[in-house]
Amino acid sequence: MREWTREERYRVLHSADEIVGLHDSIVSSDYRQKYHVQPVTGLSSDPNGFGYHKGVWHLYYQWCPWGAVHGLKYWYHVTSEDLIHWTNAGVGLKPDTFYDNRGTHSGSAFSSGDDLYLFYTGNHRDDDWVRTPYTCAAKLGKDGKPVKLPEPLFGPRDEYSEHQRDPKIVYVEDKKKYFIFIGAQNLDLKGRALIYESDDLLEGWSFAGELKVPGFESFGGMWECPCIVKIGGKDILIFSPQYTKLPGRGESTNHNIYLIGNMDYDTLTFTPDGDYQFLDFGFDFYAAQFAANVNDPDKAILIGWIGLPDNHYPTEEEDWEGSMSIVRELRLVDGKLVQNPVEGIEGLRDEKLDGDGTLPTFCELIAEVPDGDSDFNLFTKADGSGGMTMHYDAAQKTVRVDRRGMDKRFNEQVGEVLDVPLTGPLKNIRVLIDRCSVEIFFNDGEATFTSHIYPTDSEHNYTITEGGKVTVYTLKPSVIDDFVV
Ligand code: FRU
Repeated sequence: MREWTREERYRVLHSADEIVGLHDSIVSSDYRQKYHVQPVTGLSSDPNGFGYHKGVWHLYYQWCPWGAVHGLKYWYHVTSEDLIHWTNAGVGLKPDTFYDNRGTHSGSAFSSGDDLYLFYTGNHRDDDWVRTPYTCAAKLGKDGKPVKLPEPLFGPRDEYSEHQRDPKIVYVEDKKKYFIFIGAQNLDLKGRALIYESDDLLEGWSFAGELKVPGFESFGGMWECPCIVKIGGKDILIFSPQYTKLPGRGESTNHNIYLIGNMDYDTLTFTPDGDYQFLDFGFDFYAAQFAANVNDPDKAILIGWIGLPDNHYPTEEEDWEGSMSIVRELRLVDGKLVQNPVEGIEGLRDEKLDGDGTLPTFCELIAEVPDGDSDFNLFTKADGSGGMTMHYDAAQKTVRVDRRGMDKRFNEQVGEVLDVPLTGPLKNIRVLIDRCSVEIFFNDGEATFTSHIYPTDSEHNYTITEGGKVTVYTLKPSVIDDFVV
């Protein structure tokens, strides 16, 4: 792993010429994605500013141009008309003011009238490296470039630590008000969300109070990227609790969870119907964000970062890492959250293969398994050995995913075996494989499993329990790996 000095990590990008060579050196990597948004150079992490505006989906990602390292963060902009085909649109927000001198950190978008508004975290640090986070806003200009407000909407509050960031804006119709949720940590180092309110998008913001979530007063050390949406009359609150271990999640201290419940904006209380659930059971899924302006009361649109803050990935050797997940649609079925790949992704299917056990480098698999215990192993060698194994234990109603058999091992200290608990017997599995990721949807989306994976040339096969059936589709690429900065 390369060592970076602070100067190298926080270098300011002055011209595209400084990174064109980095781009040229990675486009031919075997692990560049074919239908996932990925960093144009360097590192991508959280999805930001995701929303629908005048016929176009806008998405940004946290971007460090210089390499596979968390340093000076920009927002890099991509757009799409269908949430499947994405076009690189160039740098979105740059850390070029006093308030964001050490990074334009995460935030969200909101479309209103002719304008798309971006709400982001200005990560200010002084000469002694003391951090002050500001909540800032920008408006997308006609040329597609954001114009920042000269002053932040508000600064941090003294009753909380330096960790106050990731504004998620929502409009609450019955209150005729905008609310911003901020991820925070209190002075006892417990995770919190803070709420601000205003009648106007760009002015008049005041602190409404701390979000109360009964039963979650001591849950997690920092709630990164809180996000809320209504589906079918219920509120879904998601956030990424950090600095904490959770049962069944190995040694990882970063997670992405959700609660289903009711949000009362008068008392600022989110009352959960039950316990928290994992948004995804995989090794790498974090900082997910709902799209704004979806305007369908029965579904939400979500995207996440395939990666975790403290993890390291094999493409670091090639000076880049990170990928967005595919876009998901979330619905409530019998009170449960169900997640599936965005509608229309089937349009990427190219050839249907007769299932001879080989795996194309990017493809979709639909598997049906017989009743009882079963095995479905991906990325095995031609003789069926190794790979990422999935064993279903029917008595426990649990799928155990084990990637210790892969040639390229990484983040071993966090754990390479994870369980996916199901509520009913395992019936079907849908798998989306791209060149460095795998996303698995169990039982029509009742549970999902997302991970980076770096198969070698000899790991392009699969095996399934006798009686199981697999349909394999090759896919057409839907992202163009071009250099737009
Ligand atoms: C989550 C996060 C956010 C922050 C951003 C910085 O991964 O730590 O809380 O705004 O990344 O890149």
